[in-house]
Amino acid sequence: MSRSAHPAGPRHADVLPEGHYTAPATDLNELDAKVWSRTVTRDADGALTVGGIEVARLAEEFGTPAYFLDESDFRARCRAWADAFGADADVFYAGKAFLSRAVVRWLKEEGLNLDVCSGGELATALDAGMPAERIAFHGNNKTVAEIERAIEAGVGRIVLDSFQEIARVSHIAQRLGTRQRVQIRVTVGVEAHTHEFIATAHEDQKFGIALADGQAAEAVRRALTMDGLELIGIHSHIGSQIFDMAGFEVSARRVVQLLAEVRDEHGVELPEIDLGGGLGIAYTSEDDPREPHEIAKALGDIVTRECESAGLRTPRISVEPGRAIVGPTAFTLYEVGTIKPLDGLRTYVSVDGGMSDNIRTALYDAEYSVALVSRSSDAAPMLVRVVGKHCESGDIVVKDAFLPSDLAPGDLIAVPATGAYCRSMASNYNHALRPPVVAVRDGRARVIVRRETEEDLLRLDVG
Ligand code: LLP
Repeated sequence: MSRSAHPAGPRHADVLPEGHYTAPATDLNELDAKVWSRTVTRDADGALTVGGIEVARLAEEFGTPAYFLDESDFRARCRAWADAFGADADVFYAGKAFLSRAVVRWLKEEGLNLDVCSGGELATALDAGMPAERIAFHGNNKTVAEIERAIEAGVGRIVLDSFQEIARVSHIAQRLGTRQRVQIRVTVGVEAHTHEFIATAHEDQKFGIALADGQAAEAVRRALTMDGLELIGIHSHIGSQIFDMAGFEVSARRVVQLLAEVRDEHGVELPEIDLGGGLGIAYTSEDDPREPHEIAKALGDIVTRECESAGLRTPRISVEPGRAIVGPTAFTLYEVGTIKPLDGLRTYVSVDGGMSDNIRTALYDAEYSVALVSRSSDAAPMLVRVVGKHCESGDIVVKDAFLPSDLAPGDLIAVPATGAYCRSMASNYNHALRPPVVAVRDGRARVIVRRETEEDLLRLDVG
C-alpha cells in the first residue's frame, strides 16, 4: 500500500543477488524522521529512545513484541488536524485505525470527534466518555441492535450506506421516538490507489450508493421523505494511503454537484459534507505525505470554489483521518531470534511476532522500514527479510530492508509507522498472544492495552 520503491541497496557480495540492489544511500544508524514518531531519537550509545526512555528498558519492562505509542506525537497530530481545519470544519478520527479507552480520552481532550464502524468501537467510545454527539457511526451492514444502540446513545450522525438502511434507520428512530441526524454515503466514481486515481472505476464495491445513474439523488429523495431521519449531508470516502489530492478534488466536486441538484430539486441546501479519510503516511523514506494544513487548504479551496460557482452556501466540511493521525506515532519492537543467511539470496531474520501483529505486509504487500535499535553498528549493511514465527511462508513483516551484518539473536529491532491497522487488525493465529500497546510520554511509559495471556485464550475456549 505504500508507494515506496524496494530498497536500493545492497550488500554483501555473498548474499546479494548481483545487480539487484545497490548500497543504501544512508548510514543505517541514521533515523529518518519521516517514518519515526516525533520524540524518537538515538542516545549517546546508539540506542533508540522514545519519550526519553531507552528501548532496552522498555523491552525489559513490557517484553517484546510490543507496540510503543508516542502520546505527545499523537496529541500533536490531533491538534495539527483540528487547527488546520479550524472552527468551520470537523475532524473525526477513524477509530478502525486503532482505538482504546486512552485514545478516546486523548481525542476528547484534543477536541476531535470520532468515527466508529461497529458496536465494539461504539462501546469503547462511550465507555471512555466520548460525548455521543461527537460520534459518527459507519458501516455497510450495521445490525439492528447496533443501530438501536447508536440512536439510544444519541450519536451525532449515522452514515447511511444503502437504500435498505435508509428505511431501517428511519423505522428504528421512529420506534424510539426520535429523528436521527444522518448523512448518505455516496460512491463518487473515483478509484483511489496508493498514489493514483482512476476516474469512474470504483462503483464495483460494497460501500455507499453510486452517484452514477442518479442512485444517490434517489437516496436523497427517499431520505428526505422519512420521518425518522434528518438528512444533514453527503459523505464520500475514496480509499486509503493516498498521496495525490486529485482524487479528493474530483470527489469534492462531485459531492458539491449533488448538493446543487438536491437544492434544485427539493429547495434544500444540505449543510454538511464529509470527504472521508485516506491520507497517506510515510512507511519508508520514499513516501512523501502531505501536512494537514496543505490538505485542509486544498479541500477548503475546492469546496468553496465549486459552491460559489453553483451558487450554494459553503457547507461545513468534515474529514476522517485514521492512519494519518495514529500511523506514524507508534513502532513495533521485536527481539531478533533465528538469523538464517540463504546463499545468493538474502538473510532471513526471524522475530518474536509476525503476521499476527502486522498483517499488512502479507495482506497488502505493504512496505515497511526496520532498524536495529538496541545499539548502533558500523558493520556493513546486509539485505534482510524480516519474518515472523508463524507457520506460514507468507509471514513477512518487512520484505526487503537492510540491517547491519553483525545483527545477532537478542538484538532489538523496530518497525516504525505501525500505529494504524496493526494492533487493530492483530489476530491470535497459531494462538499468538496479541502484543500490548504501551503509551510513552515525557519519560513515563504505561500500558494502555495489555498483552494477551494464555488465560485470555483459554477463557474463550469453553468446550
Ligand atoms: N472513513 C471511512 C469511511 C473509512 O472507511 C476509512 C477507512 C477511514 C475513514 C479512515 O481511513 P484512513 O485515514 O485511516 O486511511 N486496513 C487497511 C485500511 C482500511 C481502511 C478502511 N477504511 C490498511 O491497513 O491499509
